[in-house]
Amino acid sequence: MLAKEIIDLRSDTVTLPTEEMLEAIRHAELGDDVFEEDPTVNRLEKLAAERMGKEAALLVTSGTQANLISLMSNTKRGRLVILEAESHIYWYEVGGISMIAGLLPWPVKTPLGALDPKDVEAAIQPQNIHFPEPALICIENTHNRHGGTIISPDQIKAISEVAHTHGLKLYMDGARIFNAAIALKVDVKEFTKHVDNLMFCLSKSLCCPVGSLLVGTREFVERARKLRKVLGGGMRQAGIIAAPGIVALERMIDRLEEDHRNARLLAEGIAKIDGIQIDLSRVQTNIVCFEINGLGISAELFISKLKENGILALTLAENKVRMVTHRGIEEEHVKKSIAAIEKISNELHLELK
Ligand SMILES: Cc1ncc(COP(=O)(O)O)c(C=O)c1O
Repeated sequence: MLAKEIIDLRSDTVTLPTEEMLEAIRHAELGDDVFEEDPTVNRLEKLAAERMGKEAALLVTSGTQANLISLMSNTKRGRLVILEAESHIYWYEVGGISMIAGLLPWPVKTPLGALDPKDVEAAIQPQNIHFPEPALICIENTHNRHGGTIISPDQIKAISEVAHTHGLKLYMDGARIFNAAIALKVDVKEFTKHVDNLMFCLSKSLCCPVGSLLVGTREFVERARKLRKVLGGGMRQAGIIAAPGIVALERMIDRLEEDHRNARLLAEGIAKIDGIQIDLSRVQTNIVCFEINGLGISAELFISKLKENGILALTLAENKVRMVTHRGIEEEHVKKSIAAIEKISNELHLELK
């Protein structure tokens, strides 16, 4: 259980490594990874490439670094990148896409996170003197700000057809792609086979302390390796990070179903509480987003009331709250959370009377 009985629903990034991961770190065979001589990193990268059905993989420090390196490896400065308007790259990566990669992000709005191929087609501007050359289309799967929604393999295929018809690459920020695969009960390759390259995170629901992997062709990965070095991400005895990554890929994926079950339980419980609006159709994986318009307080104040009750969550907007289930959150914690929200709602409604 979490320290001091705090129920931490802010993110699946708060997960701690398992005992098995700590053991794997202790016994990892190490070498200098800048020389490509760390056997544990090499094993993890080979395993990741195999799992994703691609030629090669590269271990990097974080999801943000993975996205930035991929943007740079897939494009050239001054090009245009079409991405979803609520995407992590657009919202939460400090504008690295422009500041460092020198690219123009072209956001496209969607209701649930999946780009509509027609909108992608429309965003690909005609080649003339006025417009930057488009280079890349990015999708995010599962989609964080849309509430952990899944872009299905068929939807990815349709987007890839538009991309490839126009000679553009398709990249997937698959930080939580295993959540999508587990939720739809399909092999993760169903999601990866239509994208040119992707990244996924070890440090979220898979419980590793650090790390993400870029996956794609050998050529893409070799360019990425050099860009990682430029960005200061060339690591030495990185087997320390890779060892728990191997445990994650071998043992931590099937359990994501538990997180999804708990997210559904949480969402259904919250849906019954006065003053809260939640779209249950959006609760597809381990993220639960809801609006609190009917409580008459801001999300910020709501979060602080939750905290007084030992529950941590994040705000997504003035009226919107996000909770994420993960390893360490059990059914009893979900029930306690629902009860605390109900208590807050009742108190606020009493104040209004
Ligand atoms: C969809 C998505 N992409 C990328 C990232 C960035 O990962 P990191 O926090 O490891 O930089 C996150 C982090 O939450 C994410 O949710």
